[in-house]
Amino acid sequence: MCGIIGYCGNKPAAPVVLEGLKCLEYRGYDSVGVAILCDAQLLIRKDAGKIEEVSEKHGLDSLPGNIAIGHTRWATHGSVTQANAHPHSDCSGRIAVVHNGIIENYQELRQELISQGHRFSSETDSEVIPHLLEDELKSGCSLEEAVLAIAPKLEGSYAFLVLSRDDSGKIVGTRKNNPLVIGADGHAYYVSSDALAFSQYTNQVITLRDTEVVILTSDKIEFLDAAGNRLTKQSEELDSSWAGNHKDGYPFFMLKEIMEQPQVLSKTAYQDERKFTDIALDILRARQVIITACGTSRYASLVGRYLFSKVGKKFCDVVMASEFGYFADSVDKNTLVIAVSQSGETADVIEGVKAARDAGAEIVSIVNRPNSILADLSHQVIPLNCGPEIGVAATKTFLSQLAVFYLLSFSMVNSFDKACIQLSDMSSKITEALNCNNDGLIKLSQELKDKNNFYYIARGINFAIASEGALKLKEISYIHAEGMPAGELKHGTLALIEQDTPVVVICPADYAYSETLSNAIEAKSRGAYIIAVSDKESDIYDFWIKIPEVDELLYPMVAVVPLQLLAYYMAVSRGYDPDKPRNLAKSVTVK
Ligand code: M6R
Repeated sequence: MCGIIGYCGNKPAAPVVLEGLKCLEYRGYDSVGVAILCDAQLLIRKDAGKIEEVSEKHGLDSLPGNIAIGHTRWATHGSVTQANAHPHSDCSGRIAVVHNGIIENYQELRQELISQGHRFSSETDSEVIPHLLEDELKSGCSLEEAVLAIAPKLEGSYAFLVLSRDDSGKIVGTRKNNPLVIGADGHAYYVSSDALAFSQYTNQVITLRDTEVVILTSDKIEFLDAAGNRLTKQSEELDSSWAGNHKDGYPFFMLKEIMEQPQVLSKTAYQDERKFTDIALDILRARQVIITACGTSRYASLVGRYLFSKVGKKFCDVVMASEFGYFADSVDKNTLVIAVSQSGETADVIEGVKAARDAGAEIVSIVNRPNSILADLSHQVIPLNCGPEIGVAATKTFLSQLAVFYLLSFSMVNSFDKACIQLSDMSSKITEALNCNNDGLIKLSQELKDKNNFYYIARGINFAIASEGALKLKEISYIHAEGMPAGELKHGTLALIEQDTPVVVICPADYAYSETLSNAIEAKSRGAYIIAVSDKESDIYDFWIKIPEVDELLYPMVAVVPLQLLAYYMAVSRGYDPDKPRNLAKSVTVK
C-alpha cells in the first residue's frame, strides 16, 4: 500500500517525482523519499512525514538531476521512521530501490544475506531487494539482468523500481501482483503505481504485466519478459476522466467527491447494454453466484444481493473477500464470482479471484480503476466510470456500485433501458438529499462531536446503508460506530443504549417502515437520541435527515449521501483530515 514513481527525461526530475507522489498519497502517507542520479552520484533523501513536510525539511524540490525514483509509504514491516522510509540501498550505497508490496520470504532472505556479510539499515522487507541486486551486479551483469535474476527469489507481491550509480541513465522496474504503468510524452518517460501520477504530462499508458521488466532511459523504453526476451507493448489512451487531481475549491477531496455524486451517476449509467444483458444471463444461468468484496464495496454488494433477489429472483451470497478462501472448496466451474473493488488492487479480493479462476469459475468484476490487476484477471469487466477517487473514504464509487447493481438486476428481466431512465432521474434526487441537509448536518455534527458511540439501524435493502454509514463515521472521525439490521438490536446491542446515545435509523417509507420504526421506538424508550433518515415524518425523531421520496429499490442511494456528509462534518468538527485517516490507505494491497 505504497506509491512509487520514476522519471527519466530532460526536465529536472525532483519536481516531477514530487508532484507525482502527491497524486499517489492516497496509497500511503506516513513517509516519503526520493533517489536521484546526478553527475554519477546517487542522492537519497527520505524521512517520516507527509510529502510537504519532508520536501521542505530536506529540500527535495531543488535536488539536481534528470532521473529519479520516489516513494510514499504506508508502513507494513517496520515502524514509521526515517530508516524504514524508501528508497532503500545496498551496503555500498550504489543502488536505490522503491518497492510497493510485501516480500513474504524476506526473513529467510535477510538471514541468508546477513550471514554472507550484508549490513541492513532498516526493519523493512523491501531492503532485501537492493542487497540481492548488489550480489548479482558483482558479476558484471546489467541492472535489468540483475532484476531478472532476483525476481524469482522474491515471494509475495511487488512492484519495484531501481536506480544504480554504476548503470546510470536508466530506471529498471518489474512487478508481481502490484501495478506498474508507464507513460511517454515524447520528451520523457514515467513509470508509476498509478497513471494519475503522470496524467498531467501524457494520456498514453502502457501496463506492465506480472514478471515483465521495463527499462526506461531518457530516449527510449524497452520491455523484457521473465526470460529476458524483448517484448513489444502497445500503449492505450487513458480515459480522460482519469486525468486531474484537484479539489476544485473544496477543502477536502472527500467533500468534492460527495458533491460530485449527481454527475457521477450519469457517467456510471453510460454502459454497454449488450454486455449487461450477457452478464445478466450468465448470472441467471449460474448454479451459484458469489459476490466478493471488502469494506464499502462489500456493503454495495449487500445492496446488490437484495436487488438480484427482488428484481431478478436470483439468490446469491456475499462473501467478505478476506474470508473467501475458506469457502473455496465449494467454488467450481458452475460458479459465477462477481468481484467488486474500487481500486481493483485489494489483495484479499485478488487472492480470492485467482483461486476461483483456478477452480474454473467465471469472473465478472466491477471496478473503478482502469488497467487494474482485478480487471486483468476477469472474464468480464464493468467499469464504474467515476474518475479518480482520492479521499480514503469511498463515497462516489459506492453510489456508482449501487447503480451498476441496479442496472444488472434490471438486465435480468430485460429492462436495462428502464433502469437507465430511473437512474437518470436520480441525479436531481441526490442533489436534493445533499442540499436540503447540508446546514442541518453541520449543526448536528457540532452537537454530537464528543459522543463516543453511534448505532445505525435499518432493514431490508437499507440494512447495508446502516453498515456503510457506520463505517464512514468510524474511519474518518474515529468514533465507535456499529451498523446492523434493526431487528438485531434487541438481540444484544440494545444493552448498550444509554441516555442520549445517538441511534441513526434509516427508515424510508418502504415495505419495512413500520417495523424499523418500532425498533427505533424500542431504542428511544431506553434513552436513545433518534436521528432518522426518511422521507416520512414522525414525532419520535429527535433529528430528521429528510430524503426525497423515490422508488423503494432506490432509497439506498438517497439515504447514503447525507450519511457520508454527516461523517465528513463529524471528522472536520473533531479536527481531523477526512482525506487521510490515521492507519488507513486507499488501496489495501496487503492481506
Ligand atoms: O478498492 P476496494 O473497493 O477494493 O477497497 C475496499 C475497502 O478497502 C474500502 O472500501 C474501504 O473500506 C474504504 N476505505 C471505505 O471507505
